[in-house]
Amino acid sequence: MAVGADFKRFPRTPILSRETPEIFHISRGRVHASDVRQNLPWLYGFYRSFFLELAQATCAEPVTPALDDRYGMVLNVQRGTEMRFECHVDSNPLTGVLFCTDHLAGAGGELIFGNDPTAPGIDAVERDCSVIRPHAGHLIFFDGRQHPHFARPLLADTDVRVVAVMNFYTESCPESTRPPELNRHLFGQA
Ligand SMILES: [Fe+2]
Repeated sequence: MAVGADFKRFPRTPILSRETPEIFHISRGRVHASDVRQNLPWLYGFYRSFFLELAQATCAEPVTPALDDRYGMVLNVQRGTEMRFECHVDSNPLTGVLFCTDHLAGAGGELIFGNDPTAPGIDAVERDCSVIRPHAGHLIFFDGRQHPHFARPLLADTDVRVVAVMNFYTESCPESTRPPELNRHLFGQA
């Protein structure tokens, strides 16, 4: 499934990017939400059932999955040493990340959260950060609206990193607050 990902240089994300100004593109792969739904229906189903229940258990207010299937759940894929995931903050109030691949300590691919909400770019984030090493089967939930986060590159040419990323919304931060610029950026239309 991850082999069929859309690998390319993704332009930096409007509004939410926390890359330094000289970074215009970040290479990675993405399995689009429509392909997840079609080819991994059990995973898509979990997003709206079991994973939703787990997400709800982390939050005091009602949690909902995205109604718009274009961005509810996607797979992000890194292959080799040239790819990473963009340093950014989230617009949705609750994100779930299911790690699908294992990576040994020091192998790269760690999910990095900056402790300083104002840290500009990956070097600044790296200087004061929390590090989450990917373990296949681990599912984490977080509010990524304040703290910049990104995924480090892998250190082996043959390594592949896959995560399923899920957008959840809450009563106080519903799906209607998603910036239309994001959809225009990703899909060409709001
Ligand atoms: Fe994020």
